[in-house]
Amino acid sequence: MAITDRLLFLCAFAVTIIIIIICPASADWNILNQLRKTQTQTQRGAVSGGGSLKNFCESWRFNVELNNVRGFEVVPQECIDFIGKYMTSTQYKADCQRAVEECQLYLSSCCCTLKGDGKDAWIFDVDDTLISTVPYFKKHGFGGNKLNLTSLEGWMQKSEAPALEHTLRLFHEIKEKGFKVFLISTRRESLRDATVDNLIKEGYHGWSGLVLRDLEDENKHVKNYKAEARKRLVNEGYRIWGIIGDQWSSFDGSPSAKRTFKLPNSLYYIS
Ligand SMILES: *[C@@H]1O[C@H](CO)[C@@H](O)[C@H](O)[C@H]1NC(C)=O
Repeated sequence: MAITDRLLFLCAFAVTIIIIIICPASADWNILNQLRKTQTQTQRGAVSGGGSLKNFCESWRFNVELNNVRGFEVVPQECIDFIGKYMTSTQYKADCQRAVEECQLYLSSCCCTLKGDGKDAWIFDVDDTLISTVPYFKKHGFGGNKLNLTSLEGWMQKSEAPALEHTLRLFHEIKEKGFKVFLISTRRESLRDATVDNLIKEGYHGWSGLVLRDLEDENKHVKNYKAEARKRLVNEGYRIWGIIGDQWSSFDGSPSAKRTFKLPNSLYYIS
């Protein structure tokens, strides 16, 4: 009896060992592997101080920049802190600076071929490209609340948006190279005076056109409104060398530009 028991046990043990040896080939569903994975994830989380939420929010932010996450109305609740920190961080500034530097690199290569006939054009967005709405969003939940246009426009009327310093420098460099600068914004015509005041106060001047949305444009998709504004420039004989903006809808559609430069913005999405 005892010997049979022992034999049975040995057999069972041998089978178990064989299964464990064979199974790694199909490791994904192996319960032992699952346990090990969960454990390392938890450990990793502990090391980086709650890594998985941070990883989630950073990948959300990154995919907004890649234009994979589109049309979001609010920042995911669990990421509001993360996005708020990013948009007020030195990393955000460094990311903007890098985009501006890439732009300068492009300018140093393309400018020899400027004709100097006054038809070389460059386009800028206004909000979060020339001037920053971050101070507004800082007071209104960092993109976590659905956008209240009345409240945002009330803030814009005060002309207190600060300049993005790297873009300000670039703006003047571009002008000095002989480009005509056009500003194409989703702001409404009713904000024209406040916008001009704000831009001048922050050191911008000498643009050749400021395109704002009138009533008729408000029913259009922003990308169509912006493409139509570029079309008018091209029809007037302008060559559009570049666009700098914080929204993908500033680059979409035809005619486009020879190059586009995207500045980071994970606070809101304009489609
Ligand atoms: C939007 O903002 C305005 C002005 O600050 C305020 O009166 C209104 O109640 C707000 N609307 C909502 C839905 O929060």
